[in-house]
Amino acid sequence: MRFVDLIEKKADGMPLSTQEIKEMINGYVANEIPDYQMSAMAMAILQRGMNDRESADLTMAMMNSGDIADLSDLPGVKVDKHSTGGVGDTTTLAVAPLVAACGGTVAKMSGRGLGHTGGTLDKLEAIPGTKVEIGLEEFKKIVLANGVSVIGQSGNLVPADKKLYALRDVTATVRSIPLIASSIMSKKLAAGADAIVLDVKSGNGAFMRTDAEARELATLMVRIGKRLGRRVSAIVTDMSQPLGNAIGNALEVKEAVELLSGLIPESDPLYKVCLLLGSHMLCMSNIAKDAEEAHAMLEKAVKDGSGLARLQKMISLQSGDSSFLCMERIDELIHVKKTIDIPVQREGYIYSIDARKIGIAAQMLGAGRERKGDPIDYSVGLVMKARRGAFMHIGAPICRMYVNDERNLEEARNLIYQAVQLKDEQPQETPIVHFTITDMDI
Ligand code: URA
Ligand code: CA
Repeated sequence: MRFVDLIEKKADGMPLSTQEIKEMINGYVANEIPDYQMSAMAMAILQRGMNDRESADLTMAMMNSGDIADLSDLPGVKVDKHSTGGVGDTTTLAVAPLVAACGGTVAKMSGRGLGHTGGTLDKLEAIPGTKVEIGLEEFKKIVLANGVSVIGQSGNLVPADKKLYALRDVTATVRSIPLIASSIMSKKLAAGADAIVLDVKSGNGAFMRTDAEARELATLMVRIGKRLGRRVSAIVTDMSQPLGNAIGNALEVKEAVELLSGLIPESDPLYKVCLLLGSHMLCMSNIAKDAEEAHAMLEKAVKDGSGLARLQKMISLQSGDSSFLCMERIDELIHVKKTIDIPVQREGYIYSIDARKIGIAAQMLGAGRERKGDPIDYSVGLVMKARRGAFMHIGAPICRMYVNDERNLEEARNLIYQAVQLKDEQPQETPIVHFTITDMDI
């Protein structure tokens, strides 16, 4: 079949067959299908959608476009977590070692930050000496010794996604739910996990701006996992303000160390999301029988310091200097010329905080990158001093900026002011966890 006929078929709203999807992905990766045809197809998929079977076929075809990490010689259930990208989301640094401390096996491949969202690899590299580019065999040895390792994608994983994502980025086709779901799931499956917990963010700082979209994406990813024989569950969590207080690489490492040192209260949103993710991970690993038992195990790993010990050991095994990872020394990772508090300019309740704008403000200070490969300053960023619903007297600080390069300081400050809306009335409370979707629900 000519590819132009396939584009027409999808543009007419017809499902593509398993074979057609396979040939499309193979042809695109082999440069037999040109970008202009593939972009027309991506637009047709955005407009017309794909059913569950097509989405699973697309995931499988993408997964098979490159190497697949074989973790089968590691014992137990290999469990992974993935977040669809947020601001102030340092969950991986806390929850991965906690799950390992409870007996889980977390062999995780993470990404770098881009645009307004942070990336775990950059945060790890804020710890001097830490290597994230590690070959598969060494990675497995670290996981075997410590129960947890977090590295960058090793090998040639899902080349189809690299090519297709770059194309979607410039053709306004990123926001297609089947394309997002297959992009994420193909990478997670190629990285070798048996069980995956997804944290789908919903709100102004996320890809999915509404709960309805977040539910659709979460449900589709759980269904794809089920069709491909993996255990997948998803939690949809709030991204209508930054999750944690810290936004910036070393600052987020510090917040994770605080959590693992038992210094963050149970009512804190970051703590809540970490415990919920960890609890799904332990249940899917058959280590805990239910959420209650999992919670108790995770709390114990916070209180007795065994989670922090796993993070320290992981950093040592990845050639980093783990002696910084304690409350006595963690501030030595943060080298800034100055800190500046940003006061509110009127009295009132914090009505909304645009997480995306806050993320961009931190990026402007040098914490993130605009383009792939841009340098970043690990020390700079923001620490939020108040959350939605708080009553603020005039002049009270909304956040503290950690600054080295002052070039974009004014622009960042303006963006923070734009991001934070104060009103006389108190906003309605939004829960941190909006809902959960497991493979039992669908
Ligand atoms: N994250 C991904 O990995 N892929 C997408 O398509 C969107 C978000
Ligand atoms: Ca992240």
